[in-house]
Amino acid sequence: MKITTVINQKGGVGKTTLVFNLAKRSVEENLRTLVIDLDTQGNASQILTGDIGINRIFINGSDELFLPEFNGINPTKTAHGIDLVHGHKGIDRIDNVREVEELAYSATLRQRIRQLPYDRVIVDTPPAIGVRHMAPLYWSDQVVIPLEPELSSLAGLQDVIAAIDLARPLNPGLRWMAVLNRVKKASKSHREVVKAVEKMYGNAVVSELTDRVAVTDSRQQENPQPVWKFRGADKRLRELWHGFCSTIVC
Ligand SMILES: Nc1ncnc2c1ncn2[C@@H]1O[C@H](COP(=O)(O)OP(=O)(O)OP(=O)(O)O)[C@@H](O)[C@H]1O
Ligand SMILES: [Mg+2]
Repeated sequence: MKITTVINQKGGVGKTTLVFNLAKRSVEENLRTLVIDLDTQGNASQILTGDIGINRIFINGSDELFLPEFNGINPTKTAHGIDLVHGHKGIDRIDNVREVEELAYSATLRQRIRQLPYDRVIVDTPPAIGVRHMAPLYWSDQVVIPLEPELSSLAGLQDVIAAIDLARPLNPGLRWMAVLNRVKKASKSHREVVKAVEKMYGNAVVSELTDRVAVTDSRQQENPQPVWKFRGADKRLRELWHGFCSTIVC
């Protein structure tokens, strides 16, 4: 099993878009794929099921993974071939609960997740700091950090790296990579920040994904598609997203 968590406490940087595309790439390789949606907004769950009301279904949600009395998961089978442990408006009941936190940062929860019968697990996280943001760092093999090329994003990136360091004693093999997303090629300030991030973090910056309407449109439609299958995406954009997602999940 390989677990990939997409994380950044900043909102709207492309976490859910990446989760959807990574999961699609994974099932294309016939890998048994599970998405765990830890966001109360449940955006990944909405895209995968086509049900915008899924975040009001309070059973079988991702909060149940964190409970001391765990009896296995009951994932939603989606038409994409991706299994889903969905996010809903009530999963924040596990926030700020001492027993949950003790479990969340222990080997027990790590084993619980790592024993699930999947080849790939992709975790979507909320745009806020807390147990649902931290815990996956203890289970994951790799962390993908999307960020927009703005100076304010650099502080956020450093916060995520600090959180990763906290998880390292239990999870020494954890690797991370930053993905510059929504890069506007015509913007001088964007180009400068991209250069600065690449200089600071070198090989840990794996990709530059440009700001393109086709990325939004591909996931907004009735039948959401990964960018490389979307008719409105040009060849170069398709290759960029396909190549990037292959590097992460294959
Ligand atoms: N490369 C891109 N080009 C254009 N639009 C993008 C790109 N990446 C993401 N978007 C759009 O930006 C918006 C926010 O993306 P997304 O929902 O993936 O962010 P998020 O980090 O999951 O947000 P939240 O923190 O609220 O969960 C969406 O409308 C999405 O379609
Ligand atoms: Mg999201």
